[in-house]
Formats: sequence, structure tokens, C-alpha cells
Amino acid sequence: MSKLFVSEHPLIHTKMAMLRDEQTGTKEFREIIGEVASLLLYEATRDLPLKEVQVKTPIATATCKTIDTKLAMVPILRAGLGMTDGLLNLLPAAKIGHIGLYRDETTLEPVEYYCKLPLDIEERTVFLTDPMLATGGSADAAIGFLKARGVKNIIFLCILAATEGVERLQKNHPDVDIYAAAYDDGSLNEHGYIVPGLGDAGDRIFGTK
Ligand code: PRP
Ligand code: URA
Repeated sequence: MSKLFVSEHPLIHTKMAMLRDEQTGTKEFREIIGEVASLLLYEATRDLPLKEVQVKTPIATATCKTIDTKLAMVPILRAGLGMTDGLLNLLPAAKIGHIGLYRDETTLEPVEYYCKLPLDIEERTVFLTDPMLATGGSADAAIGFLKARGVKNIIFLCILAATEGVERLQKNHPDVDIYAAAYDDGSLNEHGYIVPGLGDAGDRIFGTK
């Protein structure tokens, strides 16, 4: 079964309290989403393979290590975009793909409207991002698209995960590790929102409600 990592870091706890607060406005919400995404990427890159490189310091040659895999970020549009700058702060050279999905408000099933990925995506370790893992339908479908394009190494990053979504991903994609800044262990409400959650992430990032 895949790993579920839920952060217990004091910085992330503090920032999650601000994200959950209904009084937090669009500008601050967007900034904090980026910060939490950076902190989460720090954890999610911990096991990446390394290679030795020789670096000439002003004094002598040092044996150093650098990441030994090609990387890509793939945000699930639209809310996943809110995490991209935070990830690029740490990995500025990563390629970026986009998968456009929205959740049908009645069926809660994901509907695809866009997919554009780097040509060599199958050679890359892909960080798939979406702030919310609720029913898991969107992430499940996006992972399916990536696997259909030949991607073998996928790591899913979200700000808030719910039990239902985690169980769905672990059942359908046991090879995909999940990194979440926080986890809400309970049922979704009648509209498919995580409880207590933080509301509609896309609307809060982009100020559309
Ligand atoms: C939200 C969120 C996820 C999805 C999660 O997107 O950003 O993509 O719902 O729910 P699920 O786990 O039940 O699939 P939404 O459909 O609201 O679209 P948006 O990103 O355009 O706001
Ligand atoms: N999508 C969101 O933006 N929020 C939720 O709580 C569930 C899905």
C-alpha cells in the first residue's frame, strides 16, 4: 500500500489554522497555499535518488550530491495552480504539465477539459498537485491520465486530505505516495466538501466567491 504522509510540523499546523479560518482573505490564502506547498515538497523530495558530483570550491574539490532524476510538476486545474509557485521556489528547473478537471456538482465525478504534459513526461518523477483530496475522484482520474502516458513515478501532494479520498487512491493506485499538510478524518458533507475542511480551495485562491 502507498504511504500517507501527514505533516506534524509546527509551521504547517500554524499555516493550516490560517487557511481554515473563514476570515482569511484571498491574498493571504493564496500566499499561504504557496508556503505550505513549499514545506510539503521539502518532505516529499526526501527520498529522491542522488548522484555524486565534484564541485570546485574556492579552496579545493568537494564531493557533493545532487538530485538524480528528471522532475515535473503537474497541477490539477484550477486549484492545483495555487501550489505551483511554491513548488517552483524549491525546484525552479522542473517542467510543468497541466491537467484540467472539474467536479460535476451533482455527480461529484471529475470532468476533463484540458491535458498538456511535457513530451518526455514518462521519464520524469511527477509531483501531481491539488490542494483538496475529497472523494478522490479528481486525483484518481489525473493519476490515470499520467499512467496512460507511461509515467511510472508519481507523488501526490495536497494541502488537505479526507479519509474517503485517501482510501480511494490507496486502493486504485497503491504505488502513489500521498503527502498532505493535514488530514480530516470524517465524512464529507452532502456537497462533497471536506468537514471541517477549509471550504472551496479554488474559489478561495482565485477569489471567485
Ligand atoms: C476541487 C479541488 C479538487 C477536487 C477535489 O476542484 O481542487 O480538484 O475539487 O474533490 P474530489 O477529491 O472529490 O475530486 P473543483 O472541481 O472545485 O474545481 P476547481 O479546481 O476548478 O475549483
Ligand atoms: N474541493 C474543495 O475545494 N473543497 C472541498 O472541501 C472538497 C473539494
